[in-house]
Amino acid sequence: MKGMIFTEFMEMVEATWSLDMVDTLITRSQVPSGGAYTSVGTYPHEEIIALVTALSRETETPVSALVRGFGKHLFGRFALAYPRFFVGDSDCFRFLSGIENVIHADVRKLYPDAELPTFEVEQAPGGLTLTYFSDHPFADLAHGLIEGCIAHFGETIEVRREAADLPGAQARFTLTRKD
Ligand code: HEM
Repeated sequence: MKGMIFTEFMEMVEATWSLDMVDTLITRSQVPSGGAYTSVGTYPHEEIIALVTALSRETETPVSALVRGFGKHLFGRFALAYPRFFVGDSDCFRFLSGIENVIHADVRKLYPDAELPTFEVEQAPGGLTLTYFSDHPFADLAHGLIEGCIAHFGETIEVRREAADLPGAQARFTLTRKD
């Protein structure tokens, strides 16, 4: 997993809790890297799971809520770090329709070693359906990123999440416009 995901996570922990909490997570999770992440590095995705699990214990908050909250925060950080994806007129559905062929396709060019998920996007009446395929258990991250995207564009969109009974699919998100 790309280092920027780790550095963003650590910065969020520091801003929301404290630098002491960052140190506690590194100690408690016993991550092999020792927590010395750089945004250009690549680290095993198991380390972020270990760090979030430690944070969950420390804060008595479910892992799913923490990962989803991080996803929402991360979208805002992506919007600042990758302005090239936000030029011109767009909206949430247009942006998310390009997640596979525009956004993550470009991310793959920037970082050929990125381990990106696959999204199947379908137009639905009044909305959009995104099916998330990945070898990694990050449906909560996808959920939060979608919520961050909705917040970024300032739209009122309802997100319904359900299990997807397709091989390799972790979740299906159905988005419906409410305004
Ligand atoms: C400007 C917008 C975005 C950028 C720049 C971006 C970039 C990235 C990067 C760099 C990674 C890490 C890849 C790795 O660790 O090897 C990633 C992973 C991921 N992205 Fe995006 N992303 C964006 C928007 C989104 C949105 C809107 C969603 C949800 C629909 C999404 C879903 C995910 C998920 C779930 C992962 C974790 C992948 C997994 O291991 O399954 N991303 N993205």
